[in-house]
Amino acid sequence: MDKMVVEGGVPLAGTVTVSGAKNAALPIVAAALLAEGDHVVRNVPDLADVRTMGRLLTHMACEVGRGQDRRTVTVRVPRTVKPEAPYDLVRTMRASVVVLGPLVARWGQARVSLPGGCAIGARPIDQHLKGLAALGAELTLQHGYVEARAPRGRLQGATFVFDGQTVTGTENVMMAAALAEGRTLLGNCAREPEVVDLAEALNGMGARVQGAGTAEIRIEGVERLRPLSHAVIPDRIEAGTLLVAGALPGNDVTVKGCELSHLEALLEKLQQAGASIAPVAGGLRVVGGGRPRPADVKTAPFPGFPTDMQAQMMVLLALADGSSVVTETVFENRYMHVLELRRLGADISVDGKVAVVKGVPTLSGAPVMASDLRASAALVLAGLAAQGTTEVRRVYHLDRGYERLEEKLVPLGARIRRVAA
Ligand code: EPZ
Repeated sequence: MDKMVVEGGVPLAGTVTVSGAKNAALPIVAAALLAEGDHVVRNVPDLADVRTMGRLLTHMACEVGRGQDRRTVTVRVPRTVKPEAPYDLVRTMRASVVVLGPLVARWGQARVSLPGGCAIGARPIDQHLKGLAALGAELTLQHGYVEARAPRGRLQGATFVFDGQTVTGTENVMMAAALAEGRTLLGNCAREPEVVDLAEALNGMGARVQGAGTAEIRIEGVERLRPLSHAVIPDRIEAGTLLVAGALPGNDVTVKGCELSHLEALLEKLQQAGASIAPVAGGLRVVGGGRPRPADVKTAPFPGFPTDMQAQMMVLLALADGSSVVTETVFENRYMHVLELRRLGADISVDGKVAVVKGVPTLSGAPVMASDLRASAALVLAGLAAQGTTEVRRVYHLDRGYERLEEKLVPLGARIRRVAA
């Protein structure tokens, strides 16, 4: 099991390019199940989670390949698939649940393991199931699996309003509705850029999806879809993580390939914290300058401040000249990184959803343990800012969502290396 060793206190400077978005690539690759044939998805990051999705489709009798450029994924979907997502794969990646909608819509049945618990929260899938049931799917839970089937061989268009905004829930039901008979109206939908990218990929397959990116999505079901040919959007969370690195004191980083409109809530908070941000050709330049200023942050569904940036932003606020209040509203247990940041000398107290971050002048390096994907990215950032050596253990969490992050940071001057623990 690898660990990351970071020698901190070295100013970062230079340009780094963002990879494709994990959280768009996963549902888009799963959308291949909606149509027989040869699918091509470009700008796909080479990540552990994407490989897991590949193994899942292979288990269903699809042929999954990667192009020479390591950025193109090909999927050959045969005439018949094995519509099953086994526990051993689903337990390693909750997002596997997005195969459920395509399978029941295209093949009339599916057997998908319930995703287990998660470090950041309970994360039920009740909204996914309620949405599919609204489209006429019959669902039973047996032996840890969701057994789903379309009793009339095909799902039926319907109106469904999500109780709460859910990203993969919206994606699952939207994909199912693409092949349902008639019109579907979805309300209180997630508006994340990844939902929009999936809708565009579906429309490229011949689907008729309108309104993605708003709270209301309208889908006119079609008989069949043609194979995918789509390029995935840039990863706004990877971009955000690199922008926070640039906003740390003394740094000057240009992030290329990111989409400005996906980052507004984060950019506003980075500017409040004193970073100077300027658009440049093909990206954004962020300069950290001196000690950050405090800023209150409240996470919310898009276009609000992304929960997937909360931990990274907390690192910047931990060095601020004053106190900040961070409120996590999306997940009920997303402060695992706080205990580890305290080991580096941060002064953070947590009470339920609210964390009070009292800024300290410096952090000092120490061995720390990653608990989940974004927490691990925050610990790497904290190690870069801290004096001395930080060892981040369990970096397998990091590799789920960052494509060899250390290889992107070293050209900026970071002293970071991966070591087999
Ligand atoms: C997606 O997860 C992302 N994952 C997460 O990113 C991200 O944190 C999250 O959206 C919120 O932005 C992918 O896209 C693969 P939700 P998802 O359903 O879809 C509750 C990362 O770091 N809920 O929008 O699973 C749920 O418990 C990951 O890349 C229900 O109650 O999140 C949570 O509190 C981590 N019932 C809230 O809604 C449901 O049926 C939002 O969850 C579904 C969700």
